[in-house]
Amino acid sequence: MDDRPIGVFDSGLGGLTAVRSLRQILPEENLIYFGDTARVPYGGRSRETLLKYARQDVRFLRSFDLKAILIACGTVSTTALPTLAAENDLPIVGVVEPTCRRAVAVTKNRRVGMIATLASVRSGAYEAQLQKLDPSVQVVSKPCPLFVPLVENGRFAPGDIVIETVAREYLEPLRDTGIDTLILGCTHYPLLWDVIHGVMGPGVTLVSAGEESAFELKRLLTARDARADGARSGTAEFCVSDRAEDFERTASLFLQEDLRHAARRIDIDQY
Ligand code: DGL
Repeated sequence: MDDRPIGVFDSGLGGLTAVRSLRQILPEENLIYFGDTARVPYGGRSRETLLKYARQDVRFLRSFDLKAILIACGTVSTTALPTLAAENDLPIVGVVEPTCRRAVAVTKNRRVGMIATLASVRSGAYEAQLQKLDPSVQVVSKPCPLFVPLVENGRFAPGDIVIETVAREYLEPLRDTGIDTLILGCTHYPLLWDVIHGVMGPGVTLVSAGEESAFELKRLLTARDARADGARSGTAEFCVSDRAEDFERTASLFLQEDLRHAARRIDIDQY
C-alpha cells in the first residue's frame, strides 16, 4: 500500500478527462493536478519548447512526495515521455500506448482514425504504436488545432455554432474514409465527446486518451502493490500557472462540482 499522491499534468483543462476517470476507478487516491494555463496551448510548439515545459511541469509536481506521475497530455506523451521517464526515478505513465491498445481491441474493420494536436501528429507516435500492436491496421491521422483553444474558452457544448462548424470541417472528411474507430489523441478532445460523436455518427467508436491513461495507471499501481488505503476518500488539489478563476469556472462545468476557490496559482518559471 502507498498513500502518497499521484501527480497529473496537462497544458490546461484537458487532463481533467483523466482526473474524472481516476476519481471513478481509484476514488481513494489523492491527486495533485497541474494545468499549465499560462502557456496553453502546447500543441503547435516545437519539441525543444515542449521538453522544456514538460520538465518544469514535472519539477513542480515533484515538489510533492509523489508515488507516480500521469502525463495527461497527448502532446507531452508523444514528444517527451521517454526523456522524462529516463530522468525521473518514479513511474511515469503516458497516454499513447494504452489508448492504442484499446483502439486495436475495438476496431473491426482495421481502419482507425486519430485526431490530436499538430505536435502529436508530427511525432508519428500514435501511428507507430498502432503499427507495432497490429501491422494490419490502417491509420488516418488529422490535427485539429482549433479544438484546444475553443475548449479552453468554454466552447464545448453541443449546439454551440462555432464548435459545431469547426468540428464538421475537421471531421467530415475523416468520417468519409470509412474508419470505425476514432482515437481522441489529445486529452482536451473528450470534452467535445457529444460534438464529435454527433459528426462521426453511431458507427464510429470513440476512444479517449484521458480515460485509457487512467486505466493504465490503475493497472500499474495494482501491479506494484502501490494503491492507497481503499477505506479512505481521496482528495484533489488543483494548481495552475495563470488565473485560477478561469480554470475553476470551466473545470466546475466539466467535473460537475463547485470548484470555486479550489485552484491555486503557482509560478511555473521557478521550476
Ligand atoms: N491536452 C493536451 C494534449 O493532449 C494539450 C493540448 C494543447 O495544449 O495544445 O495534447
